[in-house]
Amino acid sequence: MPSSSSTGTILLVGASRGLGHAMAEEFFKKGWSVIGTVRASASRTKLHDLVDSSGGRVTIEMLDINEPEQLASLRRRLNGRVLDILFVNAGTTNVPTETIGEVTTEEFVRVMVTNALSPMRTVEGLQDLVSPAGLIGVMSSGQGSVSNNTTGMREVYRGSKAALNTLMRSYAARHASDARALVLMAPGWVRTDMGGPDGRLTIEESVPNLVNVLLGQRGKPGLEYLDYLGRTVPW
Ligand SMILES: NC(=O)c1ccc[n+]([C@@H]2O[C@H](COP(=O)([O-])OP(=O)(O)OC[C@H]3O[C@@H](n4cnc5c(N)ncnc54)[C@H](OP(=O)(O)O)[C@@H]3O)[C@@H](O)[C@H]2O)c1
Repeated sequence: MPSSSSTGTILLVGASRGLGHAMAEEFFKKGWSVIGTVRASASRTKLHDLVDSSGGRVTIEMLDINEPEQLASLRRRLNGRVLDILFVNAGTTNVPTETIGEVTTEEFVRVMVTNALSPMRTVEGLQDLVSPAGLIGVMSSGQGSVSNNTTGMREVYRGSKAALNTLMRSYAARHASDARALVLMAPGWVRTDMGGPDGRLTIEESVPNLVNVLLGQRGKPGLEYLDYLGRTVPW
């Protein structure tokens, strides 16, 4: 079983900015090799700056998770690599006040596909690269909790993360004999482009803790829905 201080290779999907970039930086600081993805359309990102100062330990791959042929192509490029952690961070949102009665079909589909279908396709498409003692994680949200939803708001986003959670539970059930750890992560409300300026936490208050929680889960088979402090989030 890997100890929480042992290092390895992580593939971080959606690492151009925000929480994904900060996770790449944190794993790098802990001695890990990091493969971070950006979208092909992205120009120079914060991840590119990290690559430049990493002495070759951080590398970049291209992936738009909504493009299945790009996923297949990434899988081919990574053939023969062994990942200790696969973490899908990429996600999107819509106007938070937009209700299910107001959202257009196109916008609903965009959020659902990006936050639920595509992260799971990424897991399905790349999971065979993850070592038997490894970890597969996906960035969920506290807003994905059905039981904690007593206030409403962010209806479409909530629905997409709740769908992600359920799909990950189905994946876990289908892989019940798998020794790998599975994690749905709730990072807290963090001040990023998505979280906005009113978020409760800085990136520095969330990400180092979140990374320690992930590292602590290695070697523990089965799915957990955890927040950045390692607390179980009610489904
Ligand atoms: N911030 C919060 O308070 C909060 C709370 C709970 C959960 N989360 C979740 O945490 C994750 C990261 O959020 P963040 O706050 O860091 O948001 P962010 O600053 O908006 O960053 C979103 C990241 O996802 C990538 N992405 C979006 N669509 C993609 C696609 N189709 N293919 C590949 N990459 C894509 C973006 O890449 P580009 O740079 O190319 O756009 C960017 O790297 C999301 O899953 C979000 O739902 C955030």
